[in-house]
Amino acid sequence: MKNSKSNKSFVRALKCSVTGQTFDHDRYHGLSQCGAPLLVDYDLGALRQALDRDEVASRPPDIWMWWEFLPMEPETIPVSLGEAVTPLIPLDTAGQVLIKDEGRLPTGSFKARGMAMAITMARHFGKSVLAVPTAGNAGAAAAAYGASAGMDVHVFTPIDTPDVTVREISFHGAKITHVDGLIDLCGKQARAAVAKFGWLDMSTLAEPYRLEGKKTMGLELALQFGWSLPDVIYYPTGGGTGFIGMWKAFRELQALGWIGKKLPRMVSVQTTGCNPIQVAFEAGHEDIQTAFSPVDTVVPGVRVPKPLGGRLILQVLRESGGHACAVTDHSALSRRDEIAANQGISLCPEGSACVATYYEDITAGRISPSQTVVIFNTASGLKWPMPDVKIG
Ligand SMILES: Cc1ncc(COP(=O)(O)O)c(C=O)c1O
Repeated sequence: MKNSKSNKSFVRALKCSVTGQTFDHDRYHGLSQCGAPLLVDYDLGALRQALDRDEVASRPPDIWMWWEFLPMEPETIPVSLGEAVTPLIPLDTAGQVLIKDEGRLPTGSFKARGMAMAITMARHFGKSVLAVPTAGNAGAAAAAYGASAGMDVHVFTPIDTPDVTVREISFHGAKITHVDGLIDLCGKQARAAVAKFGWLDMSTLAEPYRLEGKKTMGLELALQFGWSLPDVIYYPTGGGTGFIGMWKAFRELQALGWIGKKLPRMVSVQTTGCNPIQVAFEAGHEDIQTAFSPVDTVVPGVRVPKPLGGRLILQVLRESGGHACAVTDHSALSRRDEIAANQGISLCPEGSACVATYYEDITAGRISPSQTVVIFNTASGLKWPMPDVKIG
């Protein structure tokens, strides 16, 4: 990778997100000893000395332009399929409400960011077989990046995962286990296989590197906004890697003095058929106490009854002065159809749930129309069955 003033990575250690216990980053680690996610800790003082904003801004625009903020060594060759910077598309005429369209990434979703990073690190540590439980898109990204790295990928996915995504996973050569249940059951089966065969567990937050890849969403936004940030961010939250990762990016940029004190209000969006984050946030809990049940939503990305990163998601909501919301499937899908027909933007249901939430928040006065807003469209609308064809 291109480097300014350093010939080594800026990683100091891996840190348990609950106890702060540190782990050596020269070895591969999954969860911490207490079963919590590990976070990558950087020497931000050294990073500040080695790098400035102009240097980063002058690099070719992709996720690797941020390599000093990532867990790789300067000589690490990334497993890359072309992770371009994603555009901000105006949703309103004033250009204040912007869709960050992650559907432009390889495999058509933001999952490419996390998997590009995690599979780069898996290869760095000499791993060759991995397992991932998924609502679909993470499995497709794991399959594609795994194929690029020459790895065997085992995907555990619910039987009602959209057919196009299941085909995509198979198309990229991964082995599929269809599970008659939700992502938590897929996770159980994946972990059992990992324990039995010694594979690498790529479940959300079960290893520290997917989060670092997703962090580039936050880094990229800061650059796109000229080293400031929008007032509010709407993000569809399942396992929460992107939500937590973006906030980590903002804190790191702040520590370097590259952005100011004011950070965005983070809004976590789910649907009423699976909203454990909203339930826990509104009850003032520190973590999600019980798995949401019964889950009844057609929006695959938010069908996570008890995310492992619940504590971290709730922390971001509180620190950012944000809130957690849920809309009905009907309002998510009708927004999607309306925006496709009237504005030409192809949203996934997760993204359109965020747009629906934004309009509900405006109506309820939770946010003001004068605020600058970024809404994440986490995947291409083409990855989800489209409405029936109308002839004539
Ligand atoms: C399109 C889409 N949006 C959002 C999510 C939720 O992402 P996260 O697990 O980072 O919260 C997913 C996860 O499967 C997804 O596929």
